[in-house]
Amino acid sequence: MKNKQVCLASRPSGWVTQENFSLRETDVGEPGSGEVLVRNLYMSVDPYMRGRMNDVKSYIPPFQVGEVLQAGVVGEVVSSRFDGLSEGDHVTGMLGWENYSIADGRLLRKIPGSEAPLSWHLGILGMPGMTAYVGLTKIAAAKKGEQLFVSAASGAVGSVVGQLGKILGCRVAGSAGSDEKVALLTGEFGYDAAFNYKTSESLLQSVKEACPKGVDVLFENVGGEQMEAVLWCMRDFGRIALCGMIADYNAAEPPPGPRGMMLMVGRRITMRGFIVTDHPETCEEYVRKAARWVAEGKLKYRETIAEGVENAPQALIDLLKGGNTGKQIVQLA
Ligand SMILES: NC(=O)c1ccc[n+]([C@@H]2O[C@H](COP(=O)([O-])OP(=O)(O)OC[C@H]3O[C@@H](n4cnc5c(N)ncnc54)[C@H](OP(=O)(O)O)[C@@H]3O)[C@@H](O)[C@H]2O)c1
Repeated sequence: MKNKQVCLASRPSGWVTQENFSLRETDVGEPGSGEVLVRNLYMSVDPYMRGRMNDVKSYIPPFQVGEVLQAGVVGEVVSSRFDGLSEGDHVTGMLGWENYSIADGRLLRKIPGSEAPLSWHLGILGMPGMTAYVGLTKIAAAKKGEQLFVSAASGAVGSVVGQLGKILGCRVAGSAGSDEKVALLTGEFGYDAAFNYKTSESLLQSVKEACPKGVDVLFENVGGEQMEAVLWCMRDFGRIALCGMIADYNAAEPPPGPRGMMLMVGRRITMRGFIVTDHPETCEEYVRKAARWVAEGKLKYRETIAEGVENAPQALIDLLKGGNTGKQIVQLA
């Protein structure tokens, strides 16, 4: 059996390009003691991958030039030398951008049989959904009756944040980068108000119109000018869950922070960054609840699916430019 793999060819400076990746073909090996051979079915493409392409110390080690990139993967066990996993089991874990992976069985999680499609375990039932829940309930402690604002609102995390906000009883507003995405927000995802930040003449005015009484909770995915506009609309004792700042990920130099930070003092605003993997209990709690909400139709879900591991680099390039609607996935088999 042959394995196609995508490696990091060079580190990007600014925007990611195809030249930063290389494709290679190898033989598929045999699992050693305690290991499992997995046929990868779906891989997740996520904004954090851009950060891992830089050679900087972070909460997760950088990708190495010449090595296979890593991703969240759902796959099927081909052969196992690990007690607790057998041929045919579906598993998820951090594996490679490749068709087959050999992994330490302890680092894989068996996916229990369910009606949800397997790829959903990389999205609404996986890390992005967990991120939405951790940020909204634990970091920002959003409450019934509060005004929530979500940036990158139609994406993998944002689309779940808004729907969870509605389940909690919040009024929910958000921004996205096309009229189609805005229609999805106020339609399928149940947002009370939304605007297209790319065609907005004044971001501040658009936030004011979407949130006439001001913002109690900001779930921040983007940073930059959008964050600055919402900051000016925050109410006293507002909370900001700082989930990500994708507007800055391809900047060759870190841009200056949002202006107006002094109003955080006067309005007694709390801002807290978080990483989803620091909150395993809350993640487990979410997965239990989400399975029910999905079955009840309370959580809706969208995916954008690319085909084939060789198209994973383009899927990442597109994601960083807003080409995805909902969760970006690559189907590998
Ligand atoms: N803290 C954590 O543990 C954690 C975990 C997962 C994700 N995150 C963060 O959460 C955020 C969303 O991640 P995701 O996986 O859900 O990705 P996503 O929203 O599915 O995809 C990224 C979206 O960001 C938007 N975007 C790209 N560049 C932008 C720009 N310059 N200005 C405004 N919007 C831009 C695009 O949508 P538009 O077309 O609407 O612009 C794009 O579709 C990211 O910042 C990510 O790093 C954090």
